[in-house]
Amino acid sequence: MKVLKVIGNQKLTGSIRISGAKNSAVALIPATLLASGTTTLCNVPHISDIDVLTQTLKYLNVSVKRASGSMLIDTTNLKNVDIPIELSSRLRASYYFMSVLLARFKYVKMHFPGGCQIGSRPIDQTLKAFRLLGATIEENDDLFIIQAKKLKGNIIPLDMPSVGATINAMLVAVLAEGKTVIQNAAREPEIADLACMLNKMGANIEGYGTSEITIIGVSSLQGCNHDIIPDRIEAGTYTIIGALIGNYLKIDNIIPSHIKSLTDVLEEMGADIEIHSDYLIIDSQKQLKATNIKTLHYPGFPTDLQQPFVTLLTSAKGVSHVEETIYENRFMNIPYLNKMGANIQVKDKIATILGPTKLKGLEVKATDLRAGASLLVASLIAEGETIITDINHLLRGYEEIVEKLTNVGAKIEIKEI
Ligand code: EPU
Repeated sequence: MKVLKVIGNQKLTGSIRISGAKNSAVALIPATLLASGTTTLCNVPHISDIDVLTQTLKYLNVSVKRASGSMLIDTTNLKNVDIPIELSSRLRASYYFMSVLLARFKYVKMHFPGGCQIGSRPIDQTLKAFRLLGATIEENDDLFIIQAKKLKGNIIPLDMPSVGATINAMLVAVLAEGKTVIQNAAREPEIADLACMLNKMGANIEGYGTSEITIIGVSSLQGCNHDIIPDRIEAGTYTIIGALIGNYLKIDNIIPSHIKSLTDVLEEMGADIEIHSDYLIIDSQKQLKATNIKTLHYPGFPTDLQQPFVTLLTSAKGVSHVEETIYENRFMNIPYLNKMGANIQVKDKIATILGPTKLKGLEVKATDLRAGASLLVASLIAEGETIITDINHLLRGYEEIVEKLTNVGAKIEIKEI
């Protein structure tokens, strides 16, 4: 079993370069199947979720070549084969293949997608979009058979601004006949990144980044070259680490507006941050003040940074409140933080953190990706040695985590035990 061993309480100095966004890459890779020929993606992070998608592409007879950060995907020999549950259950994004295969072949058979166990994650909004675009759906024991005689544009009013449903609706609508309007669309930067790539391929999408996206369907798309945006959650995680133990730590290759909800709160708490056009510098000399946050859809405070942020709040002076509004079960890191010495109580959707508390290293478990990030932050500020088990969750989302942190002075290694 692989574990992460961390000796905490080292000041970090130097520069951390942010990789391409996981949640863009996992949508862009399936989206390449909509186009004929070859698409070249740059800034593809080396993380295990991408390896699963690569295996899925190969299964669909798509040729994939990877070379230092880029991925060449040639769809010339694409086949509509049923994707085995062993692959589709490994990540949430596998259901983007549902959309692209439906759009290309008007038939797809696939299981319910996987993903972190952070609460119920229904796909009703995606299925609603498929139906409104002309598909019929048979469901049996989490196996879906989705087909259409013809896909035709429509108005799709989403009940909530779901990231996945917005992406799935876009992926089908680009090749459907006529006009589609996605109302109450999600506005996350990863959706805009996908729309930009699809437009380079020849799609006609407007309004992305707002809550109403308009798509005029086209008959075919061609491969293109596309650079994936930097990962705002990775950038946010390292910024949090910098606010705790950074010594003028540089977080490089970021889009500052994408993490504004975090940097605004950190500044209010008293953190010392200099924000530049594509990097920031953060220092940890000041005592942070307690604060209250509530997770929201973009541009609000991201749920994916909530867990690492709770760790930061254990060092802030006073009582902080964190309300999780997106997922039911995103506080699984808290029992471990409390074992390490934090003082956190959870009632319903709200965590109350009393700080500052000193954390001490011990053995903890990464129950999901961002819980892993929370415990990583805790291990870096704790006295002594922390062992984080189940790090496969963490490695799903953070590229070269050991190298990046070692380069700036952390004592961290992956060990096989
Ligand atoms: N929801 C429904 N019905 C739906 C879709 C969503 O009820 O049909 C609910 C979900 O239960 C959930 C909420 O709406 O409570 C958010 O779901 P959404 O569809 O917006 O999220 P997602 O597409 O499943 C993506 C990211 C998540 C990130 C969320 C919110 C990917 C692959 N995943 O998930 O990332 O938390 O958006 O920003 O893009 C992560 O990276 O750790 C992660 C979980």
